[in-house]
Amino acid sequence: MEIRIVPLSEGEKKAKFKDESQLGFGKIFTDRMLLIEWKVGQGWVDARIKKYEPFQLDPAALVLHYAQEIFEGLKAYRWKDGTIALFRPEMNARRFNHSADRLCMPEIPEELFVSGIEQLVAAEREWVPGAEGTSLYIRPAMIAVEPHVGIKPSDHYYFYVILSPVGAYYANGFNPVKIMVEDHYVRATPGGTGEAKTGGNYASSLKAGLEAKKKGFDQVLWLDGVHKRYIEEVGSMNMFFAYGDTIVTAPLEGSILNGITRDSVLTLAKSLNLKVEERRIDVNDLMADLKSGKITEAFGSGTAAVVTPVGTLSYAGDTVQVGNGGVGKYTQVLYDTLTGIQTGKIEDRFGWIRKI
Ligand code: COI
Repeated sequence: MEIRIVPLSEGEKKAKFKDESQLGFGKIFTDRMLLIEWKVGQGWVDARIKKYEPFQLDPAALVLHYAQEIFEGLKAYRWKDGTIALFRPEMNARRFNHSADRLCMPEIPEELFVSGIEQLVAAEREWVPGAEGTSLYIRPAMIAVEPHVGIKPSDHYYFYVILSPVGAYYANGFNPVKIMVEDHYVRATPGGTGEAKTGGNYASSLKAGLEAKKKGFDQVLWLDGVHKRYIEEVGSMNMFFAYGDTIVTAPLEGSILNGITRDSVLTLAKSLNLKVEERRIDVNDLMADLKSGKITEAFGSGTAAVVTPVGTLSYAGDTVQVGNGGVGKYTQVLYDTLTGIQTGKIEDRFGWIRKI
């Protein structure tokens, strides 16, 4: 499908940031966005790259009432030689369509998803930051725009992509975060939408997140919704624990997100001769293993979070330090290797990089 480029006048272009070290996360947006519509009986129509501006939505739009919405997150990097590179965008296309299926939304052809992003990033390449730890965060989303107050899948959708130059997701950068295991609220249950990247999962996690913040923690770590016993994920990241040179993470059983960074970390860990286990982790064993020192490192992974070290974990009022509370050696190696591939400093032996 041809994507139309709507010209932008010089006056419509925003002033660029001056200091890339002050970007923060998700507050600045570029000049243009991609918009493609899906209409019943017509399919995908009217693909265009246009000015970034607010939508005019009918107050009865289905997304505003019943949250028929999905999204993705990926990044573009500026290499030292000027190359602009995407990291595994076809994986995001696949996961987006998996989410679309769960939310009864139309699937988008993978080539259109990826080439739409490539063309948008190419048009906005001046906005890709190049300083250490920065990137262009890419946010594809789909919303149900049909005005209707009855509950049903929409007849009309907007698929759109916006871009945001970003620094680290966590304000203190690559420094250990404090995580609280949530023992009251639940994020997802088997058969629910936990595996889909849909806004409702995040909206329902806000309350627990706020309560944890008040207690001095950065994020909550969710337990499974049935037994409230097995480790699942931290909304913004999948979790990993190092038992010496064995890296353990929760299995994909339908209620946690199939993280692309999670998959990349598992692949890299194996390539670095670490052992890898995807298995259930009982929170009581976790606490005991942290206290006895069997667990030497903990970290989270995500597109936004990259690889984030965890220095403190708390469960039911019992707070323990992970290892020496600093950045573990395997956490550091995995972070360096992943970001090295993404930024062109380390050769990509896996076919993950897509140059624009
Ligand atoms: C991402 O890592 O891309 C996400 O969507 C997580 C979000 C909390 C920023």
